[in-house]
Amino acid sequence: RSIRPLVAGNWKMNGVKADLAIAAEAAKGYDAALKAAVDLAICPPATMLYPMTAALIGSRIATGGQDCSTQAAGAFTGEIAAAMLADAGASFAIVGHSERRTLHGETNATVKAKAQAAQTALLVPIICVGETRDEREAGKALAVVKKQLRGSIPEGATAATLVVAYEPVWAIGTGLTPTAADVAEMHEAIRADLSRLLGKAAAAGVRLLYGGSVKPSNAVELMNVAHVDGALVGGASLKAEDFLAIVRACA
Ligand code: G3H
Repeated sequence: RSIRPLVAGNWKMNGVKADLAIAAEAAKGYDAALKAAVDLAICPPATMLYPMTAALIGSRIATGGQDCSTQAAGAFTGEIAAAMLADAGASFAIVGHSERRTLHGETNATVKAKAQAAQTALLVPIICVGETRDEREAGKALAVVKKQLRGSIPEGATAATLVVAYEPVWAIGTGLTPTAADVAEMHEAIRADLSRLLGKAAAAGVRLLYGGSVKPSNAVELMNVAHVDGALVGGASLKAEDFLAIVRACA
């Protein structure tokens, strides 16, 4: 691999203090060989960021938020600023997850503003893109993702300040996955779009994660597709054993 892969677990709205045991078990299995080959992050609910980061000190597992505000501070009840995630120990912030785009009406412009807010707080945004089933069946998947990329990627992003996750909406939490050929086609197109948006040199190093029903049984195939530089894992990240099996598939 020319790019060091990243496996990020998105716990979504799951996890209380007792579940720090899952992170501890993952840390135990993240041995020297895996550390040499793959970066790891866990994105728990915001309430868990501080205790999880503390529990993972010395493990080299990073943490991340699942969203951040477009705003830096102020009267925005319920929102969490990127700088607050950083203060709680986060290194990453997932932005534009399809659940945020669909359930909370986030547009590409919102996602871009969130990604910029994350970068300002020195967090690396993991920007999510992906088509719905209808869009794929209509042959529009590439065009939809291209539009999302153009609308949501901050100008001037580099390999060090950006991660992109391709998550077909229909593959999230469903057990369905695209074929390796479809993932290859999409990831190659994303790399090409990033080259046009950010320049070839920057785009060449941006980590492109695949997400959507990644599990131990399909991880080896998916993680060996060209231009797949790791995974954004939902359900399987809640079981340390499954999460580690996916990490090993990237090594
Ligand atoms: O962010 C993670 C994705 O939404 C994938 O979730 O692995 O449960 O399908 P999943």
